[in-house]
Amino acid sequence: LPIKGRVDFEQVSFLYEGTMEPVIKNVTFSCLPGETVGIIGSTGSGKSSLVSLIPRFYDPNSGAVKVNGIDVREMDPTKLRDKIAVVPQKTVLFTGTVLENIRIGKEDATLEEVEQAARMADAHGFVSSFPEGYNTVLGQQGVNFSGGQKQRVSIARALVRKPEILILDDCTSAVDVTTEANIKEALKKYAKGLTCLIIAQRITSVMDADKIIVLDHGQIVGIGKHDELIRDCDVYQEIFQS
Ligand code: GTP
Repeated sequence: LPIKGRVDFEQVSFLYEGTMEPVIKNVTFSCLPGETVGIIGSTGSGKSSLVSLIPRFYDPNSGAVKVNGIDVREMDPTKLRDKIAVVPQKTVLFTGTVLENIRIGKEDATLEEVEQAARMADAHGFVSSFPEGYNTVLGQQGVNFSGGQKQRVSIARALVRKPEILILDDCTSAVDVTTEANIKEALKKYAKGLTCLIIAQRITSVMDADKIIVLDHGQIVGIGKHDELIRDCDVYQEIFQS
């Protein structure tokens, strides 16, 4: 059986062109198929830079990033990016229907596929509650969604592409804890087998992850489950107490 959704970082270092100080320093970890991996660390610790190496927004200066066991530099870029969906920090919705907003990356998705993606993102319920359902128009002439609702549409947009790897780049920090918990519950229920990397600011966002990576100045200073990190990792304890 082919491997689906595995990510490996092997002694990866990376610095932005024209800078002196690497933002990722000798990082090694594995994300097994279907695992949920949390990435936590203070602002500027390198979380977004780290995940940007997976779809090759940037390439490392040394070491290797592998997807399903293959160095990403040896993969066809289109095929690589088809396997990965990134939900950005800031949600970008455009004037148009909910259907159009979810289908933006995959124009040939059927209504059924859009609904399925919306269910996984905990969006189907509130979308269906509008009289026009998926034809509800967003934006100036239409309905104004709340931050949490927009976020769920944004996640549905990522999921409709049926990725093997879902990267949530700190996208739930603006929604309340209950909404976030509901999104994660829906993902767990419907998106079995999907590998998730969740960048977060608060511990509650990653507490139940299979593995949590603690970044500090571009280095991994802790890796493990919540209980282990609370016990052994000073940086994690600091974030927990803040
Ligand atoms: P938050 O998103 O604020 O939580 O930070 P983060 O942990 O995701 O860190 P990020 O990877 O965004 O940044 C790590 C370091 O790289 C910081 O010092 C940034 O200023 C720097 N950085 C991020 N993006 C760029 C870029 O495009 N060019 C350059 N030169 N530096 C960057």
